Amino acid sequence: MAQTITLLQPDDWHIHLRDGAALATTVAHAAQSFNRVMCMPNLVPPVKTASDAIAYRERIMAALQASDLPQARKEAFDPRMTLYLTDHTTADDIAAAARSGLVQAVKLYPAGATTNSADGVTDINQCVDIFEALEKYNLPLLIHGEVTASHVDIFDREKRFLEEVLSQIIAKFPELKIVVEHITTSDAADFVLEQSNRVAATITPQHLLYNRNHLLVGGIKPHFYCLPILKREQHQKVLLDVATSGNPKFFLGTDSAPHATHAKENACGCAGCYSSSIALPLYATAFDSVGKIDKLEGFTSRFGAQFYGLPVNESTITLVKQPLLVPSHYSYLAGTAEQTTVTPLAAGETLPWSFA
Ligand code: DOR
Ligand code: ZN
Repeated sequence: MAQTITLLQPDDWHIHLRDGAALATTVAHAAQSFNRVMCMPNLVPPVKTASDAIAYRERIMAALQASDLPQARKEAFDPRMTLYLTDHTTADDIAAAARSGLVQAVKLYPAGATTNSADGVTDINQCVDIFEALEKYNLPLLIHGEVTASHVDIFDREKRFLEEVLSQIIAKFPELKIVVEHITTSDAADFVLEQSNRVAATITPQHLLYNRNHLLVGGIKPHFYCLPILKREQHQKVLLDVATSGNPKFFLGTDSAPHATHAKENACGCAGCYSSSIALPLYATAFDSVGKIDKLEGFTSRFGAQFYGLPVNESTITLVKQPLLVPSHYSYLAGTAEQTTVTPLAAGETLPWSFA
């Protein structure tokens, strides 16, 4: 008998569903595995106000209803919305977001740090009113933690952000709930461990399973390119250590971020790994690789909910230790002039864990 593991239904605390025709692909994949998903706001234009967030959620729910998912998955899927902080966000915008009851968190992109971050914050010192409002309303701040100065080496950008920016935010706003999103270094893991329990981190499947050799040795592999970029193996090992340690500060956030295959296999390839459809087998593979499959459920299904003050889900999902061939691509933007494909992380690889 193949080994199985039954998990309380997981949540994905960091996902890019995109918009429009992309939702047919992304929502169907996300809702197969996850109940709550924290929807990143870096659309074009971004999700800047509570009413933008409410309208975006309606588009997601319409795509869900139009999908051929089982009724039980349709009923369980629960997108949680975020606002995109810009230089023009006001404390009133934050108050309105808190009052809406539909905005779960606020996302900080340093301007220029990543995909669709051009409208992000240019000077964090100007965000005092915003951070005070977030503290007041107990709305978590989700951070893409990288400095953006052109002279800073891309492999050092996360560490420099922690030292130069985030430690100051935390010192000035000790009550602020913060998620350091998609951490990639031992420095970030240590940083989060040193903070109060108001500071947590998400970890992606790619940062647990891969390092920069996978991206760069034997040719450039664009489907491993994401931001923050994959780091050295020693960092990957520390991330695996903390993710599998049972420490509730570290929980699941896939950062699943679709780009059309041609936009990644390109002279200027986009940043982002699409993992939503196979995220649970990927995480199971990572945890099992260090003999810690017993720690998977806390990471996938308990610690995130606990951080956000939400109950854990009631339904379950079962994974089985049987080979899963990851598809080479999925259809993407179907029914539009741009109709194309999206290539998942680990495309064409066989994973040891599968859905039961
Ligand atoms: O690799 C990434 N892709 N990192 C991000 O922070 C954004 C994301 C995207 O939206 O494509
Ligand atoms: Zn992201």
